[in-house]
Amino acid sequence: MSAATATPSAATAAPQSFEIRPFSGAVGAEIVGLELSRPVNDQDFARIHRAHLDHHVVVFRDQQITPQQQIDFSRRFGVLQIHVLKQFLLADHPEILIVSNIIENGQNIGLGDAGKFWHSDLSYKELPSLGSMLHAQELPVEGGDTLFADMHKAWDDLPSALRNAVEGRFAAHSYTARYSETKFEGNWRPTLTPEQLAQVAEVVHPVVRTHPENGRKALFISEGFTTRIVGLPDDESRQLLAELYAHSVLPQNIYRHQWQPHDLVFWDNRSLIHLAAGCPAHLRRKLYRTTIQGDAPF
Ligand code: SIN
Repeated sequence: MSAATATPSAATAAPQSFEIRPFSGAVGAEIVGLELSRPVNDQDFARIHRAHLDHHVVVFRDQQITPQQQIDFSRRFGVLQIHVLKQFLLADHPEILIVSNIIENGQNIGLGDAGKFWHSDLSYKELPSLGSMLHAQELPVEGGDTLFADMHKAWDDLPSALRNAVEGRFAAHSYTARYSETKFEGNWRPTLTPEQLAQVAEVVHPVVRTHPENGRKALFISEGFTTRIVGLPDDESRQLLAELYAHSVLPQNIYRHQWQPHDLVFWDNRSLIHLAAGCPAHLRRKLYRTTIQGDAPF
């Protein structure tokens, strides 16, 4: 390739003119005017990175990008994680998990009930996710929203009795705990092979974690993957978790994302939990997800 036609690197790409507009509620900001199909230079990238840390979920509007461009942009934040459900990885792009309720030739083309319970992506791994990007491919005319709850605020506002009960404690996280529970119509979940089960053995993480980049504490439990608080009798653990879940998803902690065509939503799994609200089964919904690996929670 000649110098004249070479793609500019992140260091030399022209700056883009874009705005970061915080939402009025607990978390979230919209990024308008940026084209992720064009190279993003280091200064623009630093602004995006800062916005992600400050607002925890950023919405890039109207992104006409290919799967490879989504992967390349995601990789600037870290190593990408390959989802255990190999059945639902995009052909030739295993870094992308297809989240979709569409059935073709009698087969689900993606994970139709991803996010059916509140969760932080891959909290069941030793190295849970830093953040995830979800790019809208096909959206239903009704429903299909994604909700995000601020776990820093959940910690900051936690009544002192609950704080004392959980500080210094650890909780178990398991991918399989609620794997087969049906919440939306349809039977989306393939039986896991022994190899897949070996990849998702139970792990233990602190109930209260410190965000490695913004230094803030956050609750790190979720109804989707947390199974018990280590060292407590079962009934006490269940009761405590139920109280923490109820407190985490109070309305004032939540941003509800109503998808627009070609939105790319990038959230911080160290700061938030999220939930897919679901849509009527006959309406098509398809999104592509990349998942960036984070640090071991501390
Ligand atoms: C997910 O939990 O990653 C999927 C969320 C959604 O489908 O809205």
